[in-house]
Amino acid sequence: MGETKQPVIGIIGGSGLYNIDGLKNTEWVKVETPWGDPSDELLTGEYEGQKVVFLPRHGRGHKTSPTALNYRANIDALKRLGVTDILSLSAVGSLKEELPPGHFVIVDQFIDRSFAREKSFFGPGCVAHVSMAHPVCVRLGDALEESLKTLELPHTRGGTYLVMEGPQFSTLAESNLYRSWGCSVIGMTNMPEAKLAREAEIDYATVAMVTDYDCWHEDHDAVTVDQVVKVLLGNADKARNLVKEVLPRLSAPRPACAHGCDTSLTYALITSPEA
Ligand code: ADE
Repeated sequence: MGETKQPVIGIIGGSGLYNIDGLKNTEWVKVETPWGDPSDELLTGEYEGQKVVFLPRHGRGHKTSPTALNYRANIDALKRLGVTDILSLSAVGSLKEELPPGHFVIVDQFIDRSFAREKSFFGPGCVAHVSMAHPVCVRLGDALEESLKTLELPHTRGGTYLVMEGPQFSTLAESNLYRSWGCSVIGMTNMPEAKLAREAEIDYATVAMVTDYDCWHEDHDAVTVDQVVKVLLGNADKARNLVKEVLPRLSAPRPACAHGCDTSLTYALITSPEA
């Protein structure tokens, strides 16, 4: 077995999750990156000896829209603080009857329909193509699944998250189109976050917390912020409990990811070093 590393767990909190309680030795840290400013300072701390770094995705007070988020700065700031694994917590709409508000989905695929965001750390002068075939880490998904089981929270393992640009919600035709594609949930933020985590060689997994049935369900009104916030407030405590349940499961030193999440650049660079 190769070298092992001591994990540092990054948590990106979505709408409604702007802090996590119960951490020791906490400090809000300002991190500068070559890509500009992250959404906010990052909260560093420890939970039962496990190092944790928390970033409120939209900033404390929810000040930045999905399109305006500096995804590169967010991932780079986490990397600079030593983060090896990211748990992304996100509010989403449901595209399936069997995923009602209050349900948690451990997403395993994404369809990226965002179009107005910087999506790569690589660019002119240095080109890389990482694999996104399997965008989330199985090991992190296992830990999340075990934790949701232990907490007896309603959940589903697997599902496709459709990332829309927003900030407006979908039209009915769009919602039905995504349903016809077999998507499970819809949200505005997990891409390019997952792509950038892969480029940064950080293991990544998403727990999508369902807040609404978007606009396709005949027995439910079309989604409004009001409704999202109401369900989110109910979910926030559950999300915090989930974080506390999952952290000890991830704290053992571990070898490189068997699926290559944290060695993704090994065969990705295409620019010749001599060029
Ligand atoms: N976030 C929460 N609910 C959503 C929805 N229906 N569409 C897009 N993003 C969401």
